[in-house]
Amino acid sequence: MGKLDGRVVVITGAARGQGEQEARLFAAEGAKVLLCDVLDEQGAAVAKDIAGEAGEDRARYVRLDVSREEDWAAAVATAKEAFGPVDGLVNNAGILRFNELVSTPLE
Ligand SMILES: NC(=O)c1ccc[n+]([C@@H]2O[C@H](COP(=O)([O-])OP(=O)(O)OC[C@H]3O[C@@H](n4cnc5c(N)ncnc54)[C@H](O)[C@@H]3O)[C@@H](O)[C@H]2O)c1
Repeated sequence: MGKLDGRVVVITGAARGQGEQEARLFAAEGAKVLLCDVLDEQGAAVAKDIAGEAGEDRARYVRLDVSREEDWAAAVATAKEAFGPVDGLVNNAGILRFNELVSTPLE
């Protein structure tokens, strides 16, 4: 029995790095994971790989740019439709910049 059996978890920035590893670990612990990112090719490939190991109904990829509110609504709708109510969110997406916050451009 896994620690996350039957749980539905949305993970942002899941196409690579920490988000990818979280998705793999959570799926291995029994969760159904919705992988979200802006790197569609990589994200879809990771979701396919997880689904191949854990089962077709256990992983999906959807494009979600965390700066776009409409993407959030669409991703949550996809998660609910595919897996049921969402239990958890790993809001991992981000970029690392070494300049001061006040001199960080909006884009
Ligand atoms: N790795 C570290 O040492 C470290 C240290 C401190 C904080 N963090 C934070 O942890 C998180 C993961 O780090 P990582 O090393 O795995 O980084 P990573 O760059 O390998 O992965 C980040 C993922 O987020 C995605 N992403 C970026 N902007 C996005 C957006 N607007 N919408 C959706 N997805 C977006 C990227 O496409 C990428 O797949 C980041 O938020 C990072 O800032 C990492």
